[in-house]
Amino acid sequence: MFDPHSFSLSNPDLVVDPYPFYEQIRECDPVHHSQMYGGSWVLFSYEDAAALLCDPRLTNDRATLPVMALPEDERAEFTDFVAFLHDWTAFFEGGHHLLRRKNMDQVFRQLTPALITEVVQDAVDRLIDGWEGRTSVDLVEEFARPLPAMVLTSLMGAPESDHEKLDHWADDIAYLFGASSLTAGDVRRGWASAEAFMAYLTDLARKMARHPESTLLGGLLTQTTSGFTFTEAEACAQCVLLMFAGLEPSRHLIGNAMLALHRFPDQRRLLAENPRLWPAAVEEFQRFDAPVQYIGRMAAESFSYRGHDIEKGQVVLPFVGSANRDPKQFPDPDVLDVRRRPKHLAMGEGVHRCIGAGLVRIQTAVALRTLLTRRPDLEVRTDPEPEWNSYVGFHGLKSLTIAA
Ligand code: HEM
Repeated sequence: MFDPHSFSLSNPDLVVDPYPFYEQIRECDPVHHSQMYGGSWVLFSYEDAAALLCDPRLTNDRATLPVMALPEDERAEFTDFVAFLHDWTAFFEGGHHLLRRKNMDQVFRQLTPALITEVVQDAVDRLIDGWEGRTSVDLVEEFARPLPAMVLTSLMGAPESDHEKLDHWADDIAYLFGASSLTAGDVRRGWASAEAFMAYLTDLARKMARHPESTLLGGLLTQTTSGFTFTEAEACAQCVLLMFAGLEPSRHLIGNAMLALHRFPDQRRLLAENPRLWPAAVEEFQRFDAPVQYIGRMAAESFSYRGHDIEKGQVVLPFVGSANRDPKQFPDPDVLDVRRRPKHLAMGEGVHRCIGAGLVRIQTAVALRTLLTRRPDLEVRTDPEPEWNSYVGFHGLKSLTIAA
């Protein structure tokens, strides 16, 4: 029997299906102190998650998170790595964050929905064309994984054929923010990949004869907003951030959504009959099975929250995966309803809300709509049960067989 007071992300049942656990914790201990990251506060209700994501007493400066649980004497080795992570816009706060974020938002605005749709549609069609003559396909490895990497690599301004290399580097870095316990070896691997990624991007930046503004790297190198321009090193570091932040959750969203449609075939029929529901459906997929289950914050000051003393420097983790299933916010939360139009927290809330939300909306809708239109008889195989990632921070499937 699960004891909510010993909440642990290393519990293998939690990785497969965290929702029954969340339900119990929401009822008996919604603001809970856990041993994650060497001691942290975990919050499970929608109200708490939404409030704390916007609480100015918490900071998003989590550049030290990968090394926090390492012994003191091992941390010194990673000083340069932590300094590199400190360049990421996501880890700035207040006016410094706003300035960088406005600049990046402007760069993203130059990627029009028409351009994104064209890049995504082209990649989706080529991936599906490649299955000609096949009777079964691993949707995760052969579609959900390569697609976001192909799209983001192209949008960045790099040759699409490099997408596997970039995806691999981004994975090593993402692991440092998704795994619940880390060794010095994990951090060493992440740092080596970040260095290789930076060398690659610096080379690419210098090769761009003119920096084309319709690419992310080109935009980041040239965009000036409110007098602020990224240096070359900072622009490259933001590209690493985009890849790290964007690839893994995008891939999981596609896999999780396909599995959800398999479990709710009436919703798949509804989408086939009403393709206009796709944009709303993508929001519901995010609510129903969030690829990012919790968001990290750190207490910038000590304060009391609902009778609990949160100390300065402690990690605070609003579990948006649980918030999105809170029945106080969403009636029948365990039911997938593509007409729901939920105000979910899967992409965060407040000033740090996901910068790639627009891209994700187009990418997921185009990918799944095309797949189900071109392969209307496609069946998801759940015998044996699909395998999940071994850490709940990024919640997604390792593989999902489809008969196409
Ligand atoms: C299904 C896919 C995705 C999910 C579920 C997701 C989710 C999130 C979440 C939960 C946050 C944290 C918000 C916070 O701290 O309050 C975030 C931030 C961020 N995301 Fe995404 N994301 C996705 C795709 C992407 C993509 C495709 C990109 C880039 C192209 C991206 C770039 C970022 C960046 C840069 C931030 C930091 C923003 C800031 O702190 O100002 N994400 N995302």
